[in-house]
Amino acid sequence: MSSKMYISSLIASTLLLAPAAAKNCRNFTVPVDISARTGVFNLAVPQNNLDIPDLVLNITKQGQNFTDVVLEGYKTTSGIYNISTQFCTPSEDNSTNPTVQVLTHGIGFDKAYWDLPLNDFNYSYVQVATDVFKYHTLSFDRLGVGKSSHGDPVNEIQSFLEVEATAKLTQMLRAGTFPGVNHTYNTVVHVGHSFGSAQTYSLVNKYPSISDGVVLTGFSMNSSFIGLFAAGNNLQQAYLNQPLRFSNINGSQAQNLIDTYATNLFDYLAPFDLGSLPEPQNTPNGYLVPANAAANKYLFLKPQYYDPAILTLAEQTKQPVTIGELLTLGSVPMMNNFAGPVLVINGDADLPFCGSDCLNTGGVAPSIAAMVSKNFPNVNGTNFESYIQPNTGHGINLHYNVTAAYGVINGFLNGKGFGSK
Ligand SMILES: *[C@@H]1O[C@H](CO)[C@@H](O)[C@H](O)[C@H]1NC(C)=O
Ligand SMILES: *[C@@H]1O[C@H](CO)[C@@H](O)[C@H](O)[C@H]1NC(C)=O
Ligand SMILES: *[C@@H]1O[C@H](CO)[C@@H](O)[C@H](O)[C@H]1NC(C)=O
Ligand SMILES: *[C@@H]1O[C@H](CO)[C@@H](O)[C@H](O)[C@H]1NC(C)=O
Ligand SMILES: *[C@@H]1O[C@H](CO)[C@@H](O)[C@H](O)[C@H]1NC(C)=O
Ligand SMILES: *[C@@H]1O[C@H](CO)[C@@H](O)[C@H](O)[C@H]1NC(C)=O
Ligand SMILES: *[C@@H]1O[C@H](CO)[C@@H](O)[C@H](O)[C@H]1NC(C)=O
Ligand SMILES: *[C@@H]1O[C@H](CO)[C@@H](O)[C@H](O)[C@H]1NC(C)=O
Ligand SMILES: *[C@@H]1O[C@H](CO)[C@@H](O)[C@H](O)[C@H]1NC(C)=O
Ligand SMILES: *[C@@H]1O[C@H](CO)[C@@H](O)[C@H](O)[C@H]1NC(C)=O
Ligand SMILES: *[C@@H]1O[C@H](CO)[C@@H](O)[C@H](O)[C@H]1NC(C)=O
Repeated sequence: MSSKMYISSLIASTLLLAPAAAKNCRNFTVPVDISARTGVFNLAVPQNNLDIPDLVLNITKQGQNFTDVVLEGYKTTSGIYNISTQFCTPSEDNSTNPTVQVLTHGIGFDKAYWDLPLNDFNYSYVQVATDVFKYHTLSFDRLGVGKSSHGDPVNEIQSFLEVEATAKLTQMLRAGTFPGVNHTYNTVVHVGHSFGSAQTYSLVNKYPSISDGVVLTGFSMNSSFIGLFAAGNNLQQAYLNQPLRFSNINGSQAQNLIDTYATNLFDYLAPFDLGSLPEPQNTPNGYLVPANAAANKYLFLKPQYYDPAILTLAEQTKQPVTIGELLTLGSVPMMNNFAGPVLVINGDADLPFCGSDCLNTGGVAPSIAAMVSKNFPNVNGTNFESYIQPNTGHGINLHYNVTAAYGVINGFLNGKGFGSK
C-alpha cells in the first residue's frame, strides 16, 4: 500500500476516533541491571554559564575530534538504574500477537516527546500508534533525563550506557518480564528521534536480532551540521537556567526565599503556587539545557509551520543533555550490522542532520536521509526506505502536519507486516 493510502485511512480513522479515543497507559519505574564500556574523559567541567562556550568552542573546532582529544581510556560502568517508562495499549485492544514499538526520545525532551498533550493530545505519536494503528508502545526517559536515574554528567551518563538500558527494556518485553505487562512479545520494533535515533542505530548494530524493524526520525549519518546544533543551543547549566526544575531548592523553599529577601516579587508571583511544584531534579554542573525559547526554535522548528503554544510547551518542559552524551553522540559505527527493515524520516528543514535542507545533496542522492542506506549494507534494498516530511524542522512531532508523518511511519511498519495481528 502506498503511504498516501495509509494517510487517507488514517485521517478517516482519526475523525472516527477523535472525541472518545483514549489509549490505556501505565507508568512504571523499571530497575535495570546494566553494564557498559564507557569513556573516561579528562575534561574541565564548566562551573558556571560563562565557562560553557569554552567547551563548545572545543567541540565545534574544525579539524579535531574533541572526544578523542579528551579520551583517556575506557572503564566498565555497571549498576542498577531506574528507568521511568510509559507503556500504552489501544483503548480497544483485540490483538493476540501485538507488536510493541520502543520509542527513544532525543536531546532536549523526555518521553513526553512521543505523547505531547497540546490540544488534547493532537500531537501524540503514542495516540496514533495505539488507537489508530493498534500497536503497543513503550516510551521512557533516557538515563540522566526526567524521572530516570541521573549520574555523573561526564564519565557515567553516556550513549553507551543508555543503549544498554534500551537493550534491557527490550529483552524484558520479549521475555514477558516487563513489570505490569502480562505479555511475551514476539515482535519488537524501535523508533528513535535524533540522539534517540543514534542510540537506536547503535543498539541494532550491537544486537542485530534485538529488533524486527527500525525507524530513525530526525537522523542522518552526515555530521557536517552537528556543530550548528551544538552552538545553536547556547547551552546553560540546567540548574541556573530553570532553578525551579533543576536546582536543589524546591518550590516551597523558593517561596520562603522570596518572602524573606524579595518581598517586591511576592505580589508578582502571588498567582503561582510554587509549593505545588514537583521536587526539582538537582542536576550538577555538566547537565545543560538550551538557553531559551529562541534557541529551542532554532534547533527544532521550521518557522511558520508550528503553533507557538508548542514552542512554549517545549521550553517549559525542556530536559538536559550531559557533557558525556555530547562527547559520545557521534560514536556510532559507519557500517551497521542490522539486516531488518529500516525507515529514515526527516523534516525537510532538519537543522542538525541536514543543514536545514534535506533535499540538497548536490545531486548525488535523492536526499540526505536516503544516503543512510549505504550505512546498512545488510539491509535488502527493498527493506530500506527514506522519507522527507514537508514543512517540518528537526522536531518532527512539534509541527502542524505531524499526524500525517505518523501515518507515514506506521504505514511503513504495517507495510513490513508488523500491523495488528
Ligand atoms: C578546551 O581546550 C583547551 C585546549 O585543549 C583546553 O585547555 C581547555 O581546558 C578546554 N576547555 C574545556 C572547557 O573543554
Ligand atoms: C572521535 O573519537 C572517538 C574516540 O576516539 C571515536 O569513537 C569517534 O568515532 C571519533 N569520531 C569521528 C567522527 O571520527
Ligand atoms: C530506584 O528507585 C527505588 C524505589 O524508588 C529507590 O529505592 C532506589 O534508590 C532507586 N535507585 C536509583 C539508582 O536511583
Ligand atoms: C474488539 O472486540 C470487541 C468485542 O468482540 C468488538 O465489539 C470490537 O468491535 C472489536 N474492536 C476492534 C477494533 O476490532
Ligand atoms: C506518565 O508519563 C507521561 C509521559 O511522560 C506523563 O505525561 C504522565 O503525566 C505520567 N503519568 C503519571 C500518572 O505520572
Ligand atoms: C488536530 O489535528 C487535526 C489534523 O492535523 C486537525 O485537523 C485538527 O484541527 C486538530 N485539532 C486541534 C484541536 O488542534
Ligand atoms: C496473564 O495472561 C494469561 C494469559 O492471558 C492469564 O492466564 C493470566 O491470568 C494473566 N496473569 C495476570 C497476572 O494477569
Ligand atoms: C521542599 O523542601 C523542604 C526542605 O527540605 C521540605 O520540607 C519540603 O517537604 C519539600 N517539598 C515541597 C513540595 O515543598
Ligand atoms: C553532507 O551533506 C552535504 C550537503 O548535501 C554535502 O555537501 C556533504 O558532502 C555531506 N557529507 C557527507 C559525509 O556525506
Ligand atoms: C529482498 O527482499 C525481497 C522481498 O522479500 C526478495 O524478493 C528479494 O529476493 C530480496 N533480495 C535480496 C538481495 O535478498
Ligand atoms: C503533510 O504530510 C503528508 C505526509 O508526509 C504530505 O503528503 C502532505 O503533503 C503534507 N501536507 C502539507 C501541507 O505539508
